[in-house]
Amino acid sequence: MKSQDIRKQFLQFFESKGHLIVPSAPIVLKDDPTLMFNNSGMAQFKEFFLGNGTPKSPRIADTQKCLRVSGKHNDLEDVGFDTYHHTMFEMLGNWSFGDYFKKDAINWAWELLTEVYKIPKENLYVSVFEGNPDENVPFDQEAWDIWKTLIDEDRIILGNKKDNFWEMGDQGPCGPCSEIHVDIRSAEEKAKVSGKSLVNNDHPQVVEIWNNVFMEFNRKADGSLEKLPAQHVDTGMGFERLCMALQGKTSNYDTDVFTPLIEKVEQITGLKYTSNEVKNISEEQNKTNIAIRVIVDHVRAVAFAIADGQLPSNTGAGYVIRRILRRAIRYGFTFLNTKEPFINKLVEVLADQMGEFFPEIKSQQQLVTNVIREEEASFLRTLDQGLQLLDNVVAKTKGNEVSGEKAFELYDTFGFPKDLTALILKEKGMSFKESEFDASMKAQKDRSRAASEVSTEDWKVLIPGNVETFVGYDQTENEVKITRIRKVDSKKDGVLYQIVLDNTPFYPEGGGQVGDKGTLVSANETIDIIDTKKENNLILHFAKQLPENIEANFVAKVNTDLRTSTSKNHSATHLMHLGLRTILGTHVEQKGSLVNPNHLRFDFSHFAKVTDEEIRKVEDFVNQRIEEQLQLAEYRNIPIQEAMAKGAMALFGEKYGDTVRMIEFGESRELCGGIHVKNTAEIWHFKILSEGAVAAGIRRVEAITGDAVKDYFTQQESDLDAIKETLKNPQDTLKAVVSLQDDNAKLKKQIEQLLKEKAKGLKGELASKLQDINGVKFLAAQVDLSPEGAKDLAYELGTLGTNLFLVLATAEEDKPMLSCYISKELVADKNLNAGTVVRELGKYIQGGGGGQPFFATAGGKNVAGIKEALEKAVDFVK
Ligand code: ALA
Repeated sequence: MKSQDIRKQFLQFFESKGHLIVPSAPIVLKDDPTLMFNNSGMAQFKEFFLGNGTPKSPRIADTQKCLRVSGKHNDLEDVGFDTYHHTMFEMLGNWSFGDYFKKDAINWAWELLTEVYKIPKENLYVSVFEGNPDENVPFDQEAWDIWKTLIDEDRIILGNKKDNFWEMGDQGPCGPCSEIHVDIRSAEEKAKVSGKSLVNNDHPQVVEIWNNVFMEFNRKADGSLEKLPAQHVDTGMGFERLCMALQGKTSNYDTDVFTPLIEKVEQITGLKYTSNEVKNISEEQNKTNIAIRVIVDHVRAVAFAIADGQLPSNTGAGYVIRRILRRAIRYGFTFLNTKEPFINKLVEVLADQMGEFFPEIKSQQQLVTNVIREEEASFLRTLDQGLQLLDNVVAKTKGNEVSGEKAFELYDTFGFPKDLTALILKEKGMSFKESEFDASMKAQKDRSRAASEVSTEDWKVLIPGNVETFVGYDQTENEVKITRIRKVDSKKDGVLYQIVLDNTPFYPEGGGQVGDKGTLVSANETIDIIDTKKENNLILHFAKQLPENIEANFVAKVNTDLRTSTSKNHSATHLMHLGLRTILGTHVEQKGSLVNPNHLRFDFSHFAKVTDEEIRKVEDFVNQRIEEQLQLAEYRNIPIQEAMAKGAMALFGEKYGDTVRMIEFGESRELCGGIHVKNTAEIWHFKILSEGAVAAGIRRVEAITGDAVKDYFTQQESDLDAIKETLKNPQDTLKAVVSLQDDNAKLKKQIEQLLKEKAKGLKGELASKLQDINGVKFLAAQVDLSPEGAKDLAYELGTLGTNLFLVLATAEEDKPMLSCYISKELVADKNLNAGTVVRELGKYIQGGGGGQPFFATAGGKNVAGIKEALEKAVDFVK
């Protein structure tokens, strides 16, 4: 069965059991500080388990793109070495939100596996939670009893908290689980060792394929468990492992999920991958296999993250993506001998293979390819530099052991993991001290952990069960009550309080637009709200202090000055987006946006620099629509199909519901939750201030609107006035500046010529003043030259003969400077050193310096001291 069909069958099965099939959420999470990437199917539904909001249907199923590369679930370092772990994988899942529970979940899982997919029952084992007295959670008798009706008792295994109590993170919904494991070993092997003994024992062919979690608890910040208001089901089946079992393979990499990618790598590198069936392979072949597995796995994670809007970068989620790609690049570099970018060529294969189900990868194929290619090229350059650095380190090392700190420096600055450094050193018969490397690594981790430490208290709930409503599209002021508060203490921001209201006019940061600021006012006090953000379904208002009476009635007041400026920039962003697509082409797609009261920043896909003429055209496009005074048409809650039919622009990596909000100004239509002007005339004027590159194929424009444009032009005008005045108010300012530049260039040339002649004259004059002292030709003099001129002159004089000792002083712009030149013979035979000379004489000009034995300089502060310094110079030759 093809992987495409396996996926379809799963969804069809649960649809037939009354489930709503929804699309995968984007792989990169927004609005959730506890999680960077979607690490399981349930992440997008977590609020429903906690009771904050209601799902579209009590039964949902989907396939979710997951990434387990950071936080509680991190498989990165295993990937490549085994045959069944991945960075990105698809998790097939079905959910019940307070609807069915253990009985249906278990029976359906069994029906699908044994009757639809027809996996022989004797290849399956299941596990049940044995209970944990410390947590006060009992043995899962109910699950045990249900399984007993389906499978022999000796195929049911009891599991401990580590294996059979599932938690999304350190906090949040959790519960006991029942796992299903499949044994895909040969009959011969099965006869030798029982499958039961291999369950949960890291055997590559006795693996977990499906986890059924019975969500009953919430793990609180203090580590304790509280019962959830309702019981839910959360299941997750590893799609790639299921394909392995159903396609009769013993490695995920031998299924059609990976073979097309592997074939492409083989074609590019000329190397061969051997399937898991081929035994007794050489050490070399094993390394090739590992590297190929790393690459075909990692390219999926990186490509889908980029398609969902996460570019590789130096911080946060972007940095994780960059590291995954770099891991792939260096496996290629070291084991497949790939010294040119090539991973980007796999994107085409991926798009062909997955594009039908995940259209984001197909439609953004070119962009994803470009970004990966550029990252590869830049990291390969870094690797090259690192190799040179390593060569230098090796050259300077006595013996054959390099310091572990140096190896760590390579890791830290050039991304050289320690095994790569070890490998390169081994080829030279050398090694490094691992303990020193590990100590440096630990010290760095401790530093960054301390810097990012955050302690979040549990919510103090004042009004339970309330679902907060956002009223900010219609109001900027509203009567409110506080429903919950929480204290967060972080190294970065200090102590902050997060306040949730029963309803709020405050816009939470989102869609590029910054969060509102404002105040909470009661009869007796006023609290500043310094920011507003979303966390899953909650709107959090940030304050540095809490009101004394948190139960009072408040009026929430948005700072309307800031909000008005922000809304102008947001509406202008929409007009500009359409302008860019009209003028540059429809390949332009939004890749990032920031809208605040001061300006707007917009990143978009485009392959070349936007010319000045194009910039002007975009400005004109927007300003024309401002002049046309286009009225805002806001459609709240229209079906997404209707909005798309009207040509609304949607963004990849955004999660949209069935109904959406559409913002329309003339032909500009976008799905958007932000705050906008009522009429484009309010924007007043639009001006682009800069254009540049942010990544391969991604450009950034920054622009301003409204009063900021007035301020900008006022500043420009006053700068121009000042220039005119300085130029004595010429009729044509530009002409005057150009002629000034011409004059300047001419004068520079003349000065150079004059200086050359002067130096020639000086050389003759000084040569005649050389004194013979004890066989040394000595001269100490002040010259009217720049320090560089004095250096040139000293070297010129140096060509006149042997045994020269020169000290020249300059005082350009009142900065005293001494240069000392000593002929090689004197350095060698008489042990004279120009560095010592300038350091000694430098004292008279209150300065210091150094250099080489035959030439050194010292700068100082005291011009008056030059005379004495020159007088004392003779002592060195006497
Ligand atoms: N959320 C469960 C898991 O990821 C199903 O294993």
